[in-house]
Amino acid sequence: MYRPTSIDGALRALRDDPTSRPLAGGTDLLLDLQRGDSGAAVPVVDLTAIEAFTEIVDEGDHFRLAGGVRHNQVVQHHGLVGDALPLAQACLEVGSPQLRNRATIAGNLATASPANDTISALMALGASVEISHLRSEGVEVRTVPIDQFFTGFRQTVLGPGDLITAIVVPKLAANQRGIWVKLGLRRAQAISVVHAAIIVTFANDLRDGPTGAAAVAETRLAMGSVAPTVVLVPDVSELLAGRPLTPDLAKTAATVAADAVSPISDGRATAHYRRDGIGVLVERSLSAIAEGTHGSMWPDAPPTLSAPADLDRSAAAPQSVVGAGSEIEIELNGQRTSAPNTEATLLDHVRSCLGATGMKEGCAEGECGACTMIVDGAAAMSCLIPAAQVDGATVITVEGLNHPIQQAFVDEFAVQCGFCIPGFLVSGARLLDETNAPTTEQITHALSGNLCRCTGYYPIVDAVHAAAVEIRGRRD
Ligand SMILES: Cc1cc2nc3c(=O)[nH]c(=O)nc-3n(C[C@H](O)[C@H](O)[C@H](O)COP(=O)(O)OP(=O)(O)OC[C@H]3O[C@@H](n4cnc5c(N)ncnc54)[C@H](O)[C@@H]3O)c2cc1C
Ligand code: FES
Ligand code: FES
Repeated sequence: MYRPTSIDGALRALRDDPTSRPLAGGTDLLLDLQRGDSGAAVPVVDLTAIEAFTEIVDEGDHFRLAGGVRHNQVVQHHGLVGDALPLAQACLEVGSPQLRNRATIAGNLATASPANDTISALMALGASVEISHLRSEGVEVRTVPIDQFFTGFRQTVLGPGDLITAIVVPKLAANQRGIWVKLGLRRAQAISVVHAAIIVTFANDLRDGPTGAAAVAETRLAMGSVAPTVVLVPDVSELLAGRPLTPDLAKTAATVAADAVSPISDGRATAHYRRDGIGVLVERSLSAIAEGTHGSMWPDAPPTLSAPADLDRSAAAPQSVVGAGSEIEIELNGQRTSAPNTEATLLDHVRSCLGATGMKEGCAEGECGACTMIVDGAAAMSCLIPAAQVDGATVITVEGLNHPIQQAFVDEFAVQCGFCIPGFLVSGARLLDETNAPTTEQITHALSGNLCRCTGYYPIVDAVHAAAVEIRGRRD
């Protein structure tokens, strides 16, 4: 693993070793590499130590998101929630809080699955992707409009040596409203059955509330999981142009949108269900825009299990290359540790090499939360993090908690077999750092990446409430 601390260093590593692949949050790449059947080690260029690669800059009529911006940074960013709501809504639906603390938007684009949530939002917003490449004459930077970025199923214009260095996201103007919606099989950790983003531009500027007689000038509707790539549907724009957004027109637009796609049947849904689903999403979205309720599903203070400062910083990189056998130094639960790199995940490194076996492996693919650790302040799925990527990091596991939530789980009978419990304790404790008076909605949201098969969630939620009461009592 190469661990450059600058964009130039990353571009050089990608050029010098053409077999190497960029590694951001690792939530797609790690599983890809583990499932690969070549058996050969693949060199990766870690992007988490690059200076300012998580920066979000407001540049007037658009935001510039650096190539390493993570989903939860968008969720935490008031400007993006206010002025690019569809992107924030999409980011909030990716996986779970632990996943969103590491997974990036650039990774979501580069993987290029038509089910990837941020793609439709960025397409409707008219975003563009800045790609850098080191040539013999210097760094070449090209900017590709997002609707030209995807070339086929899981294919993009990216070639060897290319790095996404920024994503440029236009702000919604005073005469625009936008929304992003998803149909999934669960409320979290659900790959989209279908998703859609709609930006409607009206002929005049709008106030809050219903759009009334305001005429539509243009509509950008992007839909995901309905074709080999996320698609824009111009027919809907043609239908709505010049007319006020009435309930009947929203219904007709839904039919037009459903007719414009030919989705496939797969394990998640039949083609018929997908087409119906798209119709429902489009009608509801247009109605919400017409009524001015498009932002009402955005939750108050969605928990992220991290603070902005935890995510907006480059990781420590004590070594520029971490190979097999290199010493990996981690501060684990306040103790400095050093152990040779066995090319394992952080979870395996902590359990097998450092002997701290509190955190469990339930699924080994980011789905269950049993392996949740606090990495440099943010909760993360340690089964998806290569140990080499956290050389120099501070890590907290259940052994290092010493937190009122542990007694609360006992008092509220929130434990049966116990396998999932260390993960719940770590996520719950991190939530109570974020807020010591969480609502039930915030607790269920915060714990949506943690699965329990036997206790049931009611006592678990009660235990988090009880711990919050205990913490507030101590403070008073
Ligand atoms: C349990 C689970 C649930 C998930 N749920 C969802 C979901 O609900 N919605 C959804 O859309 N996705 C979901 N995903 C997929 C994944 O989390 C996202 O696609 C994520 O945004 C990928 O980002 P990453 O930083 O982890 O990418 P990585 O895994 O680090 O990289 C992914 C790909 O992008 C390339 N890459 C990364 N950064 C750059 C860059 N700057 N320039 C060029 N190439 C780059 C890598 O080389 C690799 O090919 C889920 C994944 C898991 C494991
Ligand atoms: S999420 Fe890591 S083991 Fe299940
Ligand atoms: S207590 Fe058994 S899986 Fe949760």
